[in-house]
Amino acid sequence: IDITKLRTATEGVITIDPGYKNTGACESAITFLDGEKGILRYRGYSIDEVAENADFLEVAYLLIFGELPTKEQNDKFHDDIRAESYVDEDIKKIIEAFPKSAHPMGIISSLTSALTAFNPSSVNVESEADMYKSVVRILGKMPVLVAWTYRKKSGLPLDYGDNSLGYVENILKMMFKKPNGEYVQNKVLVDALDKLLILHADHEQNCSTSTVRIVGSSHAGLFASISAGISALWGPLHGGANQAVLEMLEAIQADGGDTKKYMAKAKDKNDPFRLMGFGHRVYKNFDPRAKIIKKAADEVLSQLGIEDPILSIAEGLEQEALKDQYFVDRKLYPNVDFYSGIIYRAMGIPTDMFTVMFAIGRLPGWIAQWREMRLKKEPIGRPRQIYIGATERKFVPVEER
Ligand code: ACO
Repeated sequence: IDITKLRTATEGVITIDPGYKNTGACESAITFLDGEKGILRYRGYSIDEVAENADFLEVAYLLIFGELPTKEQNDKFHDDIRAESYVDEDIKKIIEAFPKSAHPMGIISSLTSALTAFNPSSVNVESEADMYKSVVRILGKMPVLVAWTYRKKSGLPLDYGDNSLGYVENILKMMFKKPNGEYVQNKVLVDALDKLLILHADHEQNCSTSTVRIVGSSHAGLFASISAGISALWGPLHGGANQAVLEMLEAIQADGGDTKKYMAKAKDKNDPFRLMGFGHRVYKNFDPRAKIIKKAADEVLSQLGIEDPILSIAEGLEQEALKDQYFVDRKLYPNVDFYSGIIYRAMGIPTDMFTVMFAIGRLPGWIAQWREMRLKKEPIGRPRQIYIGATERKFVPVEER
């Protein structure tokens, strides 16, 4: 059966599935996920192996183009991205117009959309060559937008990075260099960020990726589609959970570290509080990314010689949840966001930038899914509904209401 003709084949039957818990929106060859067994693979390669051995740009290439790059392909990809690592100077005026209190996710989403205005040729992309230009453009410019957003909020000058560096090294330097340009690279931080970005790089049809695909399905450009994905990622039930987790752990610490009190709150159906960083729509045994991140958090903190009491609170919550019938019955385990904030914090990244770091990580996934959708010439995304409103009514003039 041709799934693009499903409606005709099923004679117009409409399925209703709020939250799309059981509805597949597409066929995809990018990421394999088995939620029962806790398996995640990018283009067939296990997440453990990829996180251990590859770097972020290799993973981006793998996700977008389907194969691990040769040395030559990798170098060319990086060179093409470097050549696009400048943004129009007028973008600075937009950044300056934001109040200091603006959330970085709102700024990044707006700036990503604004890139379309400065690169109009990125909208109507039909050929693979045009798509490639848009892909390297967004990969080149996004780190600059992120660094400038952070620097504006920190009162630092907005300038460019150092293109002689690796992609991830350059992100750190662009963000943290002093006004005189000084920055001392720390391999522990570079490796940790590289790993975190890889672990976030794709996760099949999650909320933000589905958003990118559905916006892109109307043939809006890549930048507009990614901007929409960033907005979707912002929410605390999705990528915003990493900020929410750290704020929750800090609140528990400030409240005397009583984890049992917060476990009880999370189970109380009259209390809106949820244990942030716990639970997942698809993983029902464990989130394989959380295991790797937990190990990385231990390593990074010990390598940097940091003893963070928040890590003990997080471990305490995890241990209690493992023994708690409420969490066991509902198969609620730490997800990717539970321990990532502890690493970001150790790296000196402020809490409100956590979800922005996630967005840099997810960028290759969004691009790969958008490209796959366009190359497969998928139809416009347009769900149906079951109408439950009033039946036909007669209009009543305002004086008679
Ligand atoms: N704390 C307490 N209870 C929870 C939690 C939690 N974190 N998560 C789910 N539950 C409970 C629900 O109350 C519900 O209980 P019930 O059956 O008694 O009504 C049951 O577990 C199932 O939860 P749903 O919300 O129906 O599951 P869904 O698949 O729709 O939601 C989600 C998944 C959004 C991740 C949810 O677990 C959650 O809100 N977690 C906290 C936020 C979070 O960490 N989000 C990041 C997810 S990873 C990512 O997006 C990158």
